[in-house]
Amino acid sequence: MGRATFSFVCQSCGAQARQFFGRCPGCGGWNTLVEQASPPPDGRRRRAPGAAAIGELDARPRRSQPIQAVGERPLARLASGFDELDRVLGGGLVPGSLVLVGGDPGIGKSTLLLQAAQVMARSCSVLYVSAEESAQQVKLRWRRLGPDASPGPEPGSLQLLAETDLELVLQELESLRPAVAIIDSIQALHDAELTSAPGSVAQVRECAAALQRLAKRQDTALLLVGHVTKEGMLAGPKVLEHLVDAVLTFEGDRFASHRLLRAAKNRFGATHELGVFEMRDRGLVEVTNPSELFLGSEGPCAGTATIVACEGTRPLLVELQSLVSGTSYASPRRTATGIGINRLHQILAVLEKHLGLPLSRFDCYLAVAGGLDVEEPAADLGVAAAVVASYRDLTLPAGTVLVGELGLGGQLRPVGQLELRLQEAARLGFHRAVVPRASGLGSLATELDLQVLEAATVADALVAALGVDPAAD
Ligand code: TYD
Ligand code: MG
Repeated sequence: MGRATFSFVCQSCGAQARQFFGRCPGCGGWNTLVEQASPPPDGRRRRAPGAAAIGELDARPRRSQPIQAVGERPLARLASGFDELDRVLGGGLVPGSLVLVGGDPGIGKSTLLLQAAQVMARSCSVLYVSAEESAQQVKLRWRRLGPDASPGPEPGSLQLLAETDLELVLQELESLRPAVAIIDSIQALHDAELTSAPGSVAQVRECAAALQRLAKRQDTALLLVGHVTKEGMLAGPKVLEHLVDAVLTFEGDRFASHRLLRAAKNRFGATHELGVFEMRDRGLVEVTNPSELFLGSEGPCAGTATIVACEGTRPLLVELQSLVSGTSYASPRRTATGIGINRLHQILAVLEKHLGLPLSRFDCYLAVAGGLDVEEPAADLGVAAAVVASYRDLTLPAGTVLVGELGLGGQLRPVGQLELRLQEAARLGFHRAVVPRASGLGSLATELDLQVLEAATVADALVAALGVDPAAD
């Protein structure tokens, strides 16, 4: 059988080619193709410890069966000790699942997983494989994190292995059969049978696949740490993302202490859930009331507006700040932090057209407090209010939140999960909300003791929010 042997592999997307290209034909990245030795012919394929799983699969009946007849196993999820992490995972770690945790170097992936390992080790066996740091370094960190004085029923069920050789890691996994194994990181592991360097796509793919085969067979939940490349991608992302059950990304501002954990893919729960942590001197602490983190403490001032963003099932009150000032350039400057710049352009265009504000002669800067990224369009009305307030030098009345998407025709469009957002606003002491028209708001407003102002257009909404007509000269 004439099997193609590819010898150039893109280190970014995993695309393969038989000849060298300066630009990857798959992802378009420059200089990402690296020559790799062709895999050995099938006959010489080494015996991977996980390979027996294939044999087991072969022994199973190959016939299909009615879906009702498929046996169900209750999902006994493992609690990680962090409610925030459990929620992002969809309610806890599923036995036998494969989870990839990605993030920039130094963001706190090792800290998060070591802390979770400490807690999980109280109820089950945990193996922590450190491929980047020596056992001494991990021990030091473990000390610093202040392990619980009461170690629980089975002290010492947290095993540590500092190893980079895949073969040895697989052997240890096979002999220990832990309930949870943490590999920190997948890029630092290496398979001696491959000639490519650790961290290359071929290595990452082989190592992850071998670990997965073994873990699925013995029902070990695997947590893989993956580094993000300079371009902000998980190395070998296309290679790993379809392989794993969940992809979590750990992100945050290097200048701020809070860290956000999101699920980009989750076979056992909803994506777009958000977990919020704070990095302290003794490790990560959960932030159970994140709205406080993203609200300015100074109270309202000109050019600020508060919105309720919804991250997954979780409403978050976030402060937006805007600065509008006369431009000295031919084309005005527009800068947005935490909100897409195109969204800002669109909102400015709507305000110019439908309120007659000459914003094209003004520079506009917009920032989301606390370094959060707000992607959803429900923030539009808040952005518009912050911009108009700064332009007119007005202060929004204290205790006001704004929610709504702006249509290009100047209309205010409905947003999802309005009830949840209003409940959160009321809980945090806000008493006025400007929202798009929706049914059943009257009773909710009475129930929450909230003044709910409904508007059909952005002009009406701004009049309601500011108390004056911003379009009037
Ligand atoms: P780390 O978990 O090593 O990051 P990653 O594994 O993602 O590369 O986190 C390292 C950073 O966290 C480092 O800059 C120091 C900081 N840190 C604290 O502030 N407090 C702590 O208790 C710990 C353990 C780390
Ligand atoms: Mg680390």
